[in-house]
Amino acid sequence: MTNTEHRIAVIAGDGIGREVIPAGMAALEAATRGSGVLLSFTDLPWGCEHYLKHQRMMDADGFARLAQFDAIYLGAIGAPGVPDGVSAALLLTIRQRFDQYVNLRPMRLLAGIKSPLADRRTSDIDMVCVRENTEGEYSGVGGRIHVGTANEVAQQVGVFTRRGIDRILRYAFELSATRPRKMVASATKSNALTHSMVLWDEVADTVRKDYPGVEYRKYHVDALAARMVTHPQTLDVLVASNLFGDILTDIGSAISGSLGIAPGGNINPTRQHPSMFEPIHGSAPDIAGKGIANPIGAIWAGALMLDHLGRRDLHDRVLGAIERVVASGKTLTPDLGGSAKTKDVADAITGEI
Ligand code: NAD
Ligand code: IPM
Ligand code: MN
Repeated sequence: MTNTEHRIAVIAGDGIGREVIPAGMAALEAATRGSGVLLSFTDLPWGCEHYLKHQRMMDADGFARLAQFDAIYLGAIGAPGVPDGVSAALLLTIRQRFDQYVNLRPMRLLAGIKSPLADRRTSDIDMVCVRENTEGEYSGVGGRIHVGTANEVAQQVGVFTRRGIDRILRYAFELSATRPRKMVASATKSNALTHSMVLWDEVADTVRKDYPGVEYRKYHVDALAARMVTHPQTLDVLVASNLFGDILTDIGSAISGSLGIAPGGNINPTRQHPSMFEPIHGSAPDIAGKGIANPIGAIWAGALMLDHLGRRDLHDRVLGAIERVVASGKTLTPDLGGSAKTKDVADAITGEI
């Protein structure tokens, strides 16, 4: 059989990123064996160590190099000793530069995992967040003047464009139309953010008309955060601005059992640029180096990458293996109440694949 080759840039990054990415690569190798797909991985040693040596998070020609790949597989970025705003810029500029305007984040309670919410079954927590990923609160526009004086001023400007809002809402509605429950919950805050979020709601009111088969509701984001905890079974597709989506997806992952579970795809739907796949968690300096990080978010992110590369079947193969290992309850990392190591979980999932 001739293989279709996909070139994958791997940025394992910092902290537990370096522990969970090898687990993900092993699972992807197992999943693609004999499938007609060959993933060729190129390791890019970028991140905080690179910064401390070279005063830059990636090489000067980093974007030009990344542009040659079919996808990017990323672990986590951030380490004590480098300001978070410096390290995270690596991630945020890739998202903007490659116009990865959708940050797609499934959040599901898998069978075998106990939610921190009492009496929740797997069917109660099954959502996906469509997070705007290139503008909004994360536009990066702003600055500081009179630094260090009593008159210091900082401005962090939210930038919301009709085009940016329109395209993220359309993606959410399209996705919702493919899911059984056909519901979109839009996170707004138009009571206080009377410019940006009023525009958001107006665009939503227009876009929804093109999807009469999808139920649309808007919630102020504070109430939506509460609803995720009190009535998660009433939610399906969430659509949110950059910052709101960031916060809501940590809640979604936590109620699914752990921050170590949820995956994310930073997707450029036009495919003009590579998309990037990563677990939603960070570099977790508090547990880095102990070998106990949960690799499920990273492995699941790899599955999303296979789906994006056109192989839904291989995505399902990886996710099925995750589900079976979790359901058996025998091999769980400490964040899920077990005592297994990262490698034990990785081996179990790879074996299951
Ligand atoms: P974090 O996600 O790294 O950790 C929050 C908590 O969740 C910690 O207690 C951690 O131990 C736990 N946790 C996270 N992932 C886990 C896993 N896979 N298994 C078990 N436990 C896990 O968030 P933070 O502490 O706010 O940030 C730490 C650093 O990571 C910062 O530098 C931050 O900027 C960066 N960060 C990077 C990314 C990214 O690269 N995508 C995402 C979030 C935070
Ligand atoms: C995430 C992270 C990033 C974000 C940080 C590291 C800038 O929290 O991917 O969720 O806020 O988007
Ligand atoms: Mn986050």
